[in-house]
Amino acid sequence: MVKLSRNILEIRYAIRDLVPLAKKLEREGKRIIYLNIGDPLKYDFETPRHIIEAMYRASLGGHNYYSDSLGIEELREAISEKLRELYSIDVPPSWVVVTSGVAEAINFTFRALLDPGDEILVPGPAYPAYISAPMIYHGKAVEYRCPPEYGYAPDPDDIRRRITDRTKAILINTPNNPTGSVYPAKTLREVLDIAAEHGLPVISDEIYDRIILKGEYHHPYRYSGGDTLYIGLNGFSKQYLMTGWRLGYLYVSGPDRDVDAFMEAIAKQARNRLCPSTPAQYGGVAALRGGDEHLHDMVGRLRRRMETFVKMVNEVPGIEAEMPRATFYVFPRIDASLLGDDKSFVERLLLEEGVYLVHGSGFGRYGEGHFRAVVLAPEELLEEAVERISRFVRRRLS
Ligand SMILES: Cc1ncc(COP(=O)(O)O)c(C=O)c1O
Repeated sequence: MVKLSRNILEIRYAIRDLVPLAKKLEREGKRIIYLNIGDPLKYDFETPRHIIEAMYRASLGGHNYYSDSLGIEELREAISEKLRELYSIDVPPSWVVVTSGVAEAINFTFRALLDPGDEILVPGPAYPAYISAPMIYHGKAVEYRCPPEYGYAPDPDDIRRRITDRTKAILINTPNNPTGSVYPAKTLREVLDIAAEHGLPVISDEIYDRIILKGEYHHPYRYSGGDTLYIGLNGFSKQYLMTGWRLGYLYVSGPDRDVDAFMEAIAKQARNRLCPSTPAQYGGVAALRGGDEHLHDMVGRLRRRMETFVKMVNEVPGIEAEMPRATFYVFPRIDASLLGDDKSFVERLLLEEGVYLVHGSGFGRYGEGHFRAVVLAPEELLEEAVERISRFVRRRLS
């Protein structure tokens, strides 16, 4: 029998854990409401037309070859311009690398930094890839607390406590998946100061930076003093509604020597996988330069849907949710008395009522006792989902 890597065997992706069960129920004729995957294109959102047309024109115009491994020059320039326009971040195009989604940027970054046994500090609850990707490279994710009493922002003292001589970087994710939190400026200053004190690179996953539902977004870069490497990750999947196009990027800033060394480590990996999709990259240029009108419409719709969902779910006994500040995720608490653990809660709910949520502990140990709902569906469907959840809970209580 084939001998697989132990690391691979241990990897889990909780968001899709119950897919086989959901499919089985569907085959048996049950209608499932999927609130598990953060893909707006599975609902009533569409890629803006000008982006599709740019990709189509590029392909008809013969741009169907392997591009430069680091991405086409025009897109790297457009990314550099956009960072300057939105956040006054000054990184030259040569410090930008185009990737096949943020997913690839995460993998490139971890592989560049980790030797076997090394550790990356990641927020807990954690987006599952932050936990599984270090394992692939024989490293380890160490979660630091982002507790509800801090609005799910990091506890800087916990970060301090978890730094060891194996720590290679601190990862932050604001706005956050799965909690929808936005880290306050004060917290960011403290976390970036800790990184600088220990000479640790900061990896900042900024994929939800334009999906702000209420309050102000603080860009972490503003708090980096420039003494340590800052690795920003972002992409096109969510804000430009291009999930299936697989397009993202990373940008780097910090001391020249560190930037050069890190860029070389990324370039080696980029060459090894050839390039991201060339026609998609032309679509990316159109996305960045074509205005953000669709964003206002999308965020307005998402805000209304989130308000509806949060209001309704709070009327279910034993479930408590705060209105998230950003993203299309909400992370309600389930009263312990309601049902054993969070995993059995979501599994029973799927079986009995056909609503597919993700169990909180799928986002690591700090997610226990919660579930994550993806709030992208139109209001009628969300209302139906909450009615089913309510029916399920009330049955348990009676
Ligand atoms: C926090 C976070 N980072 C990265 C990704 C991956 O995004 P991409 O489609 O750009 O690979 C996701 C996708 O849901 C995410 O939630």
